[in-house]
Amino acid sequence: MKKYLIANWKMNLTEQESYNLAYNVKKKFSSTPDLTVVLAPAFPCLRKVGETLKGTKIELAAQDVASASQGAFTGEVSAAMLKEAGCSYAIIGHSERRTLLNESDEMINKKINECYRAHLTPILCLGESQLENSGGQRDAILAQQLQRALSDVSGLPDNDLLIAYEPIWAIGSGEPMEAQEMQPVQMLVKRIISSLYSEKFYEEHIDLLYGGSVSPVNAGSFWELPFLHGLLTASASLDATSFYEIAIQAETK
Ligand code: PGA
Repeated sequence: MKKYLIANWKMNLTEQESYNLAYNVKKKFSSTPDLTVVLAPAFPCLRKVGETLKGTKIELAAQDVASASQGAFTGEVSAAMLKEAGCSYAIIGHSERRTLLNESDEMINKKINECYRAHLTPILCLGESQLENSGGQRDAILAQQLQRALSDVSGLPDNDLLIAYEPIWAIGSGEPMEAQEMQPVQMLVKRIISSLYSEKFYEEHIDLLYGGSVSPVNAGSFWELPFLHGLLTASASLDATSFYEIAIQAETK
């Protein structure tokens, strides 16, 4: 099973800092694990990070993408531009964009369509807040986010989709979800995708990831899950050593 380790650097590093980290990651991962490693620097840093990674198997992701292909959308960056800048993936619907920038499920749906048009693989983020979780609404929220994000997506079911479950309360808190809680989430995601498309499509094209306070201390418990396809990390990915320590634990599982 293909496994992913994705680094979302958020708005933390300048171009020079991104270059330095990418260089260190490249050195650490020279004999790496059988993992698909993906780095998501900020837009202006994509090219330089991409150049640094040339000749390696490490891939590039964008942290977001525009919901339209072209035109008068000041400040936006299209999927085609990101593809040309070297990206293979784009993170879509991260909770910070949903909550801080009011990104709606409808926009997320358009962004997924844009990704497929430009041959980028979307990494769709889902997750409920602390309040929704303690109110027992997790499954309803995830179902709604998934159904709305995936309604009428022309690139499916012929392409791959990465789905990252990232409970908002676990992001940046230092308190990840218990790994065994991923099982009901996986069953839910599988049920919804199977009803929208088919079980065969789920098995062949969906890769389910977990994100939220993943660290070298807890990564092993997630890598152990036989149905989990990988991890999406942010804080721990800002240090090449801790990022690598998360990666090597995948090998031993
Ligand atoms: P974290 O963030 O690893 O810092 O908790 C994860 C994310 O926001 O994707």
